[in-house]
Amino acid sequence: MPLSTNRSTLTQFLIEERRRFPSASGDFNALILDVALACKGIARAVAFGELGGVMGNHAATEGGTINVQGETQKALDVLSNEVFIRRTEWSGNLAGMASEEMDLPYQIRAQYPRGKYLLVFDPLDGSSNIDVNVSVGSIFSVLRAPADVEATGRDVIEADFLQAGAQQVAAGYALYGPTTMLVLTVGDGVNGFTLDPNLGEFMLTHPKMQIPADTHEFAINASNSRFWETPVKRYVDECLAGKTGPRAKDFNMRWIASMVAEAHRILMRGGVFMYPRDTKDPAKPGRLRLLYEANPIGLIMEQAGGRASTGERPMLGVQPTALHQRIGLVFGSKNEVDRIERYHAEPIKVELSNPLFVERSLFRV
Ligand code: F6P
Repeated sequence: MPLSTNRSTLTQFLIEERRRFPSASGDFNALILDVALACKGIARAVAFGELGGVMGNHAATEGGTINVQGETQKALDVLSNEVFIRRTEWSGNLAGMASEEMDLPYQIRAQYPRGKYLLVFDPLDGSSNIDVNVSVGSIFSVLRAPADVEATGRDVIEADFLQAGAQQVAAGYALYGPTTMLVLTVGDGVNGFTLDPNLGEFMLTHPKMQIPADTHEFAINASNSRFWETPVKRYVDECLAGKTGPRAKDFNMRWIASMVAEAHRILMRGGVFMYPRDTKDPAKPGRLRLLYEANPIGLIMEQAGGRASTGERPMLGVQPTALHQRIGLVFGSKNEVDRIERYHAEPIKVELSNPLFVERSLFRV
């Protein structure tokens, strides 16, 4: 077995980062280490699979429970949510929490002190993949609590969490794949840590991750194509047209249906991910959630030199209006996200199937 002695642990990394801010109290580092411990716990539960007795739908009520998103909760969704809460609420670092699995903000229980941060998370993303043994992950975002929350320790309300993505203090995800990884940004680049199963420690294995600006790989759920808006159709059609099309290169397509796994692939080798706004269900402006999916993944992308967008504008500038708000999400290699935004901005003049009007033709649309 290889020894990890020449690598930094997550703890060492955080302490060395903190030395840049001599006045920092250490609360933030303690919070991130608690989140990392929650992720280790979830990684073990996921790894035991059927043996752990937590597979399938949540059985608290007959036939499973439904979360605020109207989705059937898996037993592991509920367990993972509990792990996040129990591992983080005791420390006095949090003013409150919000999660995909909880309708309302979570209040830190009375026996614990309250702190200055808000933790927002999707405890188990891609959970439809659990039963088929495909990678899943956890996503988290750390926000600063509003000043009056910090000063008074009052209960948190939905409005306290409605902060634009650019306000995030930190964001990250854990990927439960062939190896367990924690990918983290504290606003100074993106660093990846691999769980050393011998030591039970996250070790810095992927310092300063950077996303290539160009790619020939895209990810989208093509079964929704009849609901896509014209700019998305145009982008995908051009990719599919390959070498003989307007892009003059062949593209590859991937769809894992676990956003964390797609984000990780893109961080490692570039690519673009799209779950755009579409016309499938007028009540849902997109499938993914702004506060605990799009914003944390968006901050990671931007910090790694990539981009995240609604399709029309930068994701991190969006002012949230609801805790469980959905939004169209496009992220990955910078030049591709720029292109998709450009397609949304350009007026639609002609039928795109007309070869006279495709890109690099006489009459560019
Ligand atoms: O809930 C989010 C999620 O599971 C993502 O991880 C994933 O990208 C997406 O939903 C999959 O959506 P679909 O079921 O449309 O493929």
